[in-house]
Amino acid sequence: MFPIKTATLTNMPYDNFFEQELVTLKAEGRYRVFADLERHAHQAPIATWHSKNGPKPVVVWCSNDYLGMSHHPSVIEAATKAAIAYGAGSGGTRNISGTGHLHIELEKTVAKLHEKEAGLIFTSGYVANEATLCTLAKGLPNCVVFCDERIHASMIQGVSHSKAPKHIFSHNNLGQLRQQLASYPLNQPKLITFVSVYSMEGDFAPIEAICDLAKKYNAITYLDEVHAVGIYGKGGAGLANSLGQSHRIDVIQANFAKAFGVIGGYITGSKSLVDYVRSFALGFIFTTSLPPMVTSAAISSINVLQQADDLRQKLWQNVNLLKNLLSKTNVNYHQTPSHIVPVVIGDAKICKDFTDALLNDFGIYVQPINYPTVPRGQERLRLTATPFHNEEMIKNMVYALDLLWEKFFMRKAG
Ligand SMILES: Cc1ncc(COP(=O)(O)O)c(C=O)c1O
Repeated sequence: MFPIKTATLTNMPYDNFFEQELVTLKAEGRYRVFADLERHAHQAPIATWHSKNGPKPVVVWCSNDYLGMSHHPSVIEAATKAAIAYGAGSGGTRNISGTGHLHIELEKTVAKLHEKEAGLIFTSGYVANEATLCTLAKGLPNCVVFCDERIHASMIQGVSHSKAPKHIFSHNNLGQLRQQLASYPLNQPKLITFVSVYSMEGDFAPIEAICDLAKKYNAITYLDEVHAVGIYGKGGAGLANSLGQSHRIDVIQANFAKAFGVIGGYITGSKSLVDYVRSFALGFIFTTSLPPMVTSAAISSINVLQQADDLRQKLWQNVNLLKNLLSKTNVNYHQTPSHIVPVVIGDAKICKDFTDALLNDFGIYVQPINYPTVPRGQERLRLTATPFHNEEMIKNMVYALDLLWEKFFMRKAG
């Protein structure tokens, strides 16, 4: 061991810097406090919250496990059997001993789901976006990228890392996108990046109109369907599929971590595009591949959801009940077309106090959403009902929201 002098370490200003930054974050009400939860595979959406005063049951209202697939018996069985049969880890990067038969099967499964020639899996949806967008935008000569202002951080990172010139168009603003596209020669490579279901707004992209513009101005379309797969489209094939537009999207990206209930990300597209990303994307090449239990669970989940219209129906029944009950209150919720219901609070500190009150007084867990996940002044709760919330839970949720809304906003206004 090196003889480290504690005095030297404590004199270094690094920790002071970190502490000061955290003090500022706390003063803004943006300091992230993780709820220490124990989810139970057979009691969802009920979880145990390890609070300062000991364990307490809470109802989770902000999970992205939209259809409860993380605890579906077939998915659990697939994960367990794969771990027993093949071990806990994959053994390497895809190139160096880490490609298993299950990876190939999963890539075929996602390609088939989106009716594309090929699929490629990554360790997360974040990595899929970052690695693919960086590789495409950097590799295509003189490529210009067009981004909806609300695309996910992983997409922004991918585009930024490519160093390609980019234009941001305001959210779903087709006129602005058209202007931006038209300002470049037709034969210059262009890439439009957007999301089908925007997870913080709960709204949809105008997929067909964007595809029309892409065709007119000779651009590649890159669509993130992370919050749509499993729920929308035939057998959960996504929003583009439900609108009959999948064939017009060049790259459909999604993950296995939301409605599919596991973890991992993927892209699908033409054989040559996918092979190009496989061959050049650093985030694909230089990392260990998904373990067999995850890969097998993802295959099982996709297969189960092909036939799970009953589960989707139950989800919509609960989402509609939630929206319907909220419409009879003063709560500032967004009437979205999707399964996501944002309740906009507009202030980081109030948002935190509001969610603390939900947790402490009503046993309801919703994480406050702050900058940079949403713009400042748009702080919000993001409610996600699942097929497993019962009527009483939904009524309690709306009752609690209504009561707290009155306490935090109406009385002050009065
Ligand atoms: C729109 C969108 N894309 C990509 C991701 C990243 O997916 P993953 O959680 O699998 O890394 C997220 C995750 O939260 C997301 O909301």
